Amino acid sequence: MLLENKVALITGSGRGIGRAMALLFAQEGAAVFLTARTGSELAAVEKEITSQGGMAAHATADLTLEMDVERVFSVAEKKFGRVDILVNNAGHYGPVVPVEEYPLDEFDKVIAVHLRAAFLLSKLSLPGMYARKSGVILNVSSLSAKAAFPWGSAYAAAKAGLLGLTRYTAAEAARNGVRVNALCPGPVTETAMSKELGNTLAKRLNVSPEEQLKGFLGSILQGRGQTAMEIAQAALFLCSDMSSAMVGQSINVDGGAAFY
Ligand SMILES: NC(=O)c1ccc[n+]([C@@H]2O[C@H](COP(=O)([O-])OP(=O)(O)OC[C@H]3O[C@@H](n4cnc5c(N)ncnc54)[C@H](OP(=O)(O)O)[C@@H]3O)[C@@H](O)[C@H]2O)c1
Repeated sequence: MLLENKVALITGSGRGIGRAMALLFAQEGAAVFLTARTGSELAAVEKEITSQGGMAAHATADLTLEMDVERVFSVAEKKFGRVDILVNNAGHYGPVVPVEEYPLDEFDKVIAVHLRAAFLLSKLSLPGMYARKSGVILNVSSLSAKAAFPWGSAYAAAKAGLLGLTRYTAAEAARNGVRVNALCPGPVTETAMSKELGNTLAKRLNVSPEEQLKGFLGSILQGRGQTAMEIAQAALFLCSDMSSAMVGQSINVDGGAAFY
């Protein structure tokens, strides 16, 4: 097993990509601490893991709030003793509007959940990781950090910001035994976020959701989206010793959409 005796804190793990990562990490031996705002989804994932003999626990938190971030980290540490692996995955897309119509409070919320929460949780995790000379942080960014699409400026800015945070934290952490990397998924069409975005884009473009999706997927080399499990497998690689020499990288898992 790749993550035996490891404790992983995975944000946004009630559904979608976070849930897939939690299930896979638990199968690989990690004790997984789950967090998001919706308790029923977290409880369901915890049950899925424990019913298969894995270790999991959860606490609800709105990660746009500093107090919630601090509380959830401390509950995770109390429950499993430490955090060896931090996966910053939680987030929402935000309004699908052009820059000139983007409400500032919504911009701030998108930045807060993707970028500020990742910064705060890194800040809380690093001292323990440095003391143990071991740890991994994985930031879930996006193809949106590397491409140019309309109507999601806060999301793209937050995801690009995560790549900067990844490189700088990696530079500080590398000689303390801690590796920091990022993942850039393409369209994971099965998730709530992706479906909601597809429907909204279709409305804006005055096409059917099927047409909108077909057009987007047609621009990807593989001609299809990615599954949550495909993203989780890449996350497992980056969070395990299989990637022991990978530091400060942003890995595209997008079927061939971005090439840097
Ligand atoms: N799906 C894609 O195509 C795609 C592509 C590239 C990158 N990504 C990234 O992958 C990550 C997961 O996305 P997904 O597609 O799996 O979306 P999802 O199914 O909507 O899951 C998002 C998760 O984040 C949690 N979350 C959202 N806002 C939160 C908040 N304020 N505080 C705490 N938790 C919060 C949600 O739970 P609650 O709502 O219960 O809080 C949920 O568990 C995101 O960072 C996303 O940007 C997704």
